[in-house]
Amino acid sequence: MHQPVRTAVFPVAGLGTRFLPATKALPKEMLPVVDTPLIEYAVDEARAAGIEEFIFVTGRGKSAIEDHFDRNFELEGELERRDPDGKALELVRGSAPTAGHIAYVRQGEPLGPGHAVWCARRFVGDEPFAVLLADDLIMSDPPTLVDLMDVYRDKGGNVISLMEIDPAVTSRYGVISPGADDGRVVEILDLVEKPSAAEAPSNLAIVGRYILQPGVMEILARGARGAGGEIQLTDALAAMVGSHPFHGVRLGGTRFDCGTKIGFLEANVAYALGRPDLEDDTRARLRAILDRF
Ligand code: UTP
Repeated sequence: MHQPVRTAVFPVAGLGTRFLPATKALPKEMLPVVDTPLIEYAVDEARAAGIEEFIFVTGRGKSAIEDHFDRNFELEGELERRDPDGKALELVRGSAPTAGHIAYVRQGEPLGPGHAVWCARRFVGDEPFAVLLADDLIMSDPPTLVDLMDVYRDKGGNVISLMEIDPAVTSRYGVISPGADDGRVVEILDLVEKPSAAEAPSNLAIVGRYILQPGVMEILARGARGAGGEIQLTDALAAMVGSHPFHGVRLGGTRFDCGTKIGFLEANVAYALGRPDLEDDTRARLRAILDRF
């Protein structure tokens, strides 16, 4: 029986430079796909996977995230008056984790995703924990973290999400070196962040969902800089290979890179087409747009 995973860390302190000017004052993680901010999809996924404690690593300009997961009594009062069936009220109240089970820690300086995770160390303690990068939006049933939990219960150690990529774009991803592979679960022998196509050990890239052993914090504490001069989570994970079971799970659904403009647009169209209340209109209007432009 492996130690249960109760805590999730959401690094949300990045600058979102690939999405300027939208992210000058608005946190990237608050960008809405259809009508729901990216961070809410990630929180819902974590909740579906049984997570009880929600830790956000934030920074300057990210207070909209805290407000989003807080009560808004003025709005709730207004909706109680205006919305007899209570649907809007449910949307406003539904997303927030239970009081006392949500915490915010400041990263101070955005030194990289590994550094962001390390900033959560005092909340994580000595238990395994999940990490979700909200800008990797995944349309999947079951949700990706639920899938990782299944594999974790069986294998323990570190479990991360993987997807196949075009070998020409390895330099945008963390890439793994695979061992035993049953078509779904892949043993991980090494990981490298943003390798060139020539150096990439495979076409299996890391997606932003992880279940990690707390020992990763000691490695991150060394503060070693990697690709792009950032403290990379991938490098710390590479240092754990051999000391823990380490597996990747091939993604069951579709991942949208909402940290980029095109990935975000794609996600909006796909999620709108997946919504019964919007599907027909979206399809018709897309056709009309394609005819006109
Ligand atoms: P990204 O590298 O995609 O985000 O990190 P970024 O740095 O904000 O984006 P660009 O490259 O400038 O456009 C993935 C996640 O990790 C968080 C980000 O907020 C994002 O949710 N992150 C990244 C941090 O919390 N701290 C960091 O130092 C870096």
